[in-house]
Amino acid sequence: MPTLAIEIDRTAAAPVGEQIYASLRQAIVDGRLQPGRRLPSGRDLAAQLGVARGTILVAYERLASEKLVVGAGSAGTRVCAQLPPAPTATEIPLDGPLDAFTRPYSSAPLPFQMGVPAHDAFPAKVWVRMRARAVRADATGYTTYADPRGERDLRAQIASHLAISRQIQCHPDQVIVTSGYRHGLMLTLIALRAHGRTAWIEEPGYPIGRKALELAGLTVAPISVDVEGLRVEEGIARAPHAALALVTPGQHAPLGVALSPMRRRTLLEWAEAKDVWIIEDDYLGELQLVGRAAPALAAGDGAQRVIHIGAFSKTISPALGLGFVVAPRALAERVVETVSVMAPAPNRTTQLALTEFLADGHFMRHLRHMKKVYAERRHLAVELLRKRFTEVVESGLGLIVKLPDGVDDLEIVHSARKQNLAPSALSTWYLRTELARNGLLLSVTNLRPDNIRAACDALEDIVSARISQHRGVDASHRFF
Ligand SMILES: Cc1ncc(COP(=O)(O)O)c(C=O)c1O
Repeated sequence: MPTLAIEIDRTAAAPVGEQIYASLRQAIVDGRLQPGRRLPSGRDLAAQLGVARGTILVAYERLASEKLVVGAGSAGTRVCAQLPPAPTATEIPLDGPLDAFTRPYSSAPLPFQMGVPAHDAFPAKVWVRMRARAVRADATGYTTYADPRGERDLRAQIASHLAISRQIQCHPDQVIVTSGYRHGLMLTLIALRAHGRTAWIEEPGYPIGRKALELAGLTVAPISVDVEGLRVEEGIARAPHAALALVTPGQHAPLGVALSPMRRRTLLEWAEAKDVWIIEDDYLGELQLVGRAAPALAAGDGAQRVIHIGAFSKTISPALGLGFVVAPRALAERVVETVSVMAPAPNRTTQLALTEFLADGHFMRHLRHMKKVYAERRHLAVELLRKRFTEVVESGLGLIVKLPDGVDDLEIVHSARKQNLAPSALSTWYLRTELARNGLLLSVTNLRPDNIRAACDALEDIVSARISQHRGVDASHRFF
């Protein structure tokens, strides 16, 4: 069996299995491993590379699922005789403009990747126990339809958690369990029957929220955000007939600022006076690293005009696929009607497990732990990045590195992806390109002591190279 030249870099951010898979894939696509050629057995290749046999088998399975290799029992694994056609340049890419935000999917989170919690801090042991119990309870439970609003006990747990952490006073029947923020938002937009109307969105603002509004047939009016959050007066002046405002008042996404008390009041008064709605995207909940999170907009006076949407995507994991809408009493029935017809609460076993996780105090404990871990990670990242870049701003669970005018943040993002780093481009969070600022959004959630320095160094090199190219100067002339 000829030896395959597979290089493993154990200091790289990419897991070893990922590197093996990528090397094999490249060799097949390049034709170095020709159709019909037999791959080494899992055991042989594992011994050659000094890795577990399972690692090799997982790589082989991935190649098989892409129809690049085929397992032939005792005849081993062979490169497929006919490879799937390579995408041609004329093919229309299906990733679309959202490509930059959520990738990579279903794989280990990369350094700086936004929107994903710390992989190493997931409470796996407790979760396995609770899920196992939930699977048993579900399997021996009634074979009738589940409540489309979600399990009653879970809704009650969410309501009491929100009372403590976000000061929201609501009845469990106002809580509708969803598969996450996006599901909650679409349900809300349908329940509001806002098709054809205008919505204020934050500028910059979460691109997926913007896209959801467009898909639901609304026209979006981008309203600027400054150090006090959304500039409500600008909204009133620019889009006075809007049917709703979609906001992240707790910690603005992506700038991290909280809506000031004055602006909160003005926004709530506007909604009340105009009989319109505020959709509160509370994606981080009380997960605030400095000080205590302000109460939700849906807490206290004016709450009857606020639809509060939360999710466990940032606080536990997006893989859970659970979130919730808290609908004001006047709207709750319509949201329930929508959820019953369109998309009932998902995943009963996960709901049961989450109920126990909340009821037994694990969620509160987990949040406390996460705040500590993220604060430490952010502190170290700030220290390292401020030595490398002149403008580094703290924001939510991450940092923003501002870039000089004209230096394209998307190009940096694309170069970084090739090195298994996943910064996001600030410019893509703006709707009006003429206002867009260039910068890098860097989540600290998956920066650990063992990868943080290498990740910061690699990012510095990529940015420096891009700046020098932009200025046409020597790379030693590094910082702006
Ligand atoms: C501003 C904002 N809202 C909501 C979410 C969560 O969305 P979901 O629960 O659909 O994953 C994210 C995730 O990145 C976000 O950045």
